[in-house]
Amino acid sequence: MRKKIVAGNWKMNNDLGATNTLISELIKKEKTTNVEVIIAPTFVNLLEASKQLKDSSIKVAAQNMHFANHGAYTGEISATMLKSVGVNTVILGHSERREFFSEDDNLLKQKVDKALNEDMQIIFCFGEKWEDRSIENHFMVVENQIKNALFHLKNENWKSIVLAYEPVWAIGTGQTASPEQAQEMHSFIRNLVKENYNSTISEDVSILYGGSVKPENAKEIFGKNDVDGGLIGGAALNADNFMAIVNAL
Ligand code: 13P
Repeated sequence: MRKKIVAGNWKMNNDLGATNTLISELIKKEKTTNVEVIIAPTFVNLLEASKQLKDSSIKVAAQNMHFANHGAYTGEISATMLKSVGVNTVILGHSERREFFSEDDNLLKQKVDKALNEDMQIIFCFGEKWEDRSIENHFMVVENQIKNALFHLKNENWKSIVLAYEPVWAIGTGQTASPEQAQEMHSFIRNLVKENYNSTISEDVSILYGGSVKPENAKEIFGKNDVDGGLIGGAALNADNFMAIVNAL
């Protein structure tokens, strides 16, 4: 059975004070549901977030990590460092990492392998740009992104993978994909996993949608068969909005 998940990607927002405040508000609003709730604060606040959420069901994720254990990689953070502060989930392949930090499929493949070797859960992001969709190339772009970074994995690795479809044109723009566009792509992705693995794996993998999800549109998007939750940016920075999205699932 695939999990229902709502994850908040805080991106480069919230200093220590704001992190503490937002987490305290989330804890107050926390409910026992069957939805896995994850937040991804910035690196410097991961330890504090882990401590605050120690007795909570809300999990903490990192927004990125390096593929090496340690060494001369100025400014980078390793999987073992993340685990040492209680973080066992990592977002990889976000379009902002691909776009602004030149992360390509080959690099992401190495990060995926490292995270799996360290027994971490991965939220693997991908999605097309508007220019791809405008020429009907979106399925091919998404297929390549997934294939190049994930289709070398063994069957048993898939229990640690969460997929997140985030069309770049919908991120932070207020222009969300329609529920039908999301469902069409999610069903394509599930089928791709089935063709390359098997139907147990494809039915069990959670596929999240990300891109301008708000309390007002979450229910409709989450109502689609192959949408198992969301990866939320802007709306995750406000406890009321984020929990309203969680409760819409
Ligand atoms: P927005 O919800 O702000 O569009 O961001 C989505 C996103 O990039 C989450 O990773």
